[in-house]
Amino acid sequence: MRDVFQGIGVPEKDAQICADVLIKADKRGIDSHGIGRLKPIYYDRIVKQKIQQPVTQIEVVRDRLATAVLDGHHGMGMVISTYCMNLAIEKAKKYGLGMVVARNSTHYGIAGYYTLMACQENMIGLTGTNARPSTAPTFGVENMLGTNPLVFGMPTDEEFPFTNDYATSIMQRGKIEQYAREGKDCPPGLVIDRQGNTITDPQKILQALVQGEAALVPIGGIKEETGGHKGYGYATVVEILSAALQQGAFLKQLSGFDPEGNRVPYKLGHFFMAIDIAAFTEIETFKKITGDILRALRNSQKVPGAERIYTCGQKEHLAWLERKDTGIPINEVLQQDIIAMRNELGLRQYQFDFE
Ligand SMILES: NC(=O)c1ccc[n+]([C@@H]2O[C@H](COP(=O)([O-])OP(=O)(O)OC[C@H]3O[C@@H](n4cnc5c(N)ncnc54)[C@H](O)[C@@H]3O)[C@@H](O)[C@H]2O)c1
Repeated sequence: MRDVFQGIGVPEKDAQICADVLIKADKRGIDSHGIGRLKPIYYDRIVKQKIQQPVTQIEVVRDRLATAVLDGHHGMGMVISTYCMNLAIEKAKKYGLGMVVARNSTHYGIAGYYTLMACQENMIGLTGTNARPSTAPTFGVENMLGTNPLVFGMPTDEEFPFTNDYATSIMQRGKIEQYAREGKDCPPGLVIDRQGNTITDPQKILQALVQGEAALVPIGGIKEETGGHKGYGYATVVEILSAALQQGAFLKQLSGFDPEGNRVPYKLGHFFMAIDIAAFTEIETFKKITGDILRALRNSQKVPGAERIYTCGQKEHLAWLERKDTGIPINEVLQQDIIAMRNELGLRQYQFDFE
């Protein structure tokens, strides 16, 4: 992946960061955001659609004691975001809290990557990003909001940190792409058409989302009765924090198309916060109390038939324990993508046992 990024003009150090974010997703079992996205989300956008800059130029727009606003000038979202979280951590070391927001960025991959950066420094991490419009508000059918993840990372005394690494829609696009790659239907109730009826064919959904003819449903579901308004509210929080602190684009302005239908950069916004635990309490005490909370939850009474109760971040840790020995699954569609990129870039040093 690093060689592919370099092959399309990303400088070596930045290519390493981009590959690391995607590989971290695969290591953690997040197949929707790993190597499967290399071609459609990064390679094609740089080489074919020309809406993303391989060389990232970060401009500091505003820098106060604990806060900063950066402009990523449509460079690599992972490079911009790693820079932002490092800066937030640096500020938190000095002031207890650091918050950095980015404008004119591009897709940053798994949000959990950045919260884990904070955890490694014994800090609490928080991040969110806006994204292409895809989610409908409660009682609406129009795709207005992004899948807008709102993610915390908390260090614990266990082998893995807590991180609730997910979208504020029930399903996010990467998972729909994954259903499409696997030739399976999506479960009902997660995507609606303009009449509010559920649709499940992943190819149709992906096409309809771009055309604005389908919308994802926020966490909690279509109705108020099941708490759909709560997911809708959190998605709105992310939209505001991602755009309003940096005078950025929002909602349908993030479609990636101009009014004439030409492809244009997505102009994404992200926010990153690092909170230094040592500014509040002893780090070991925080980790122990957090671990005690998570252990109590996992040890509570299970529903009949359930094997275990999980806490956030645990499944990713279990995936890694398995994948470090077995590797990651690469299905046929992905194999073709990998071969195509290898051939187009002349990376002849790579031969795969699936060709
Ligand atoms: N960059 C973007 O624009 C963007 C947008 C949306 C999502 N994403 C990323 O996509 C990835 C997948 O998102 P998703 O919404 O499909 O996530 P998901 O629905 O697969 O949920 C994963 C999260 O839920 C936790 N989890 C799973 N089962 C659990 C259980 N039974 N009990 C407790 N916790 C449990 C996991 O530990 C993990 O934190 C994430 O990494 C997210 O950051 C990125």
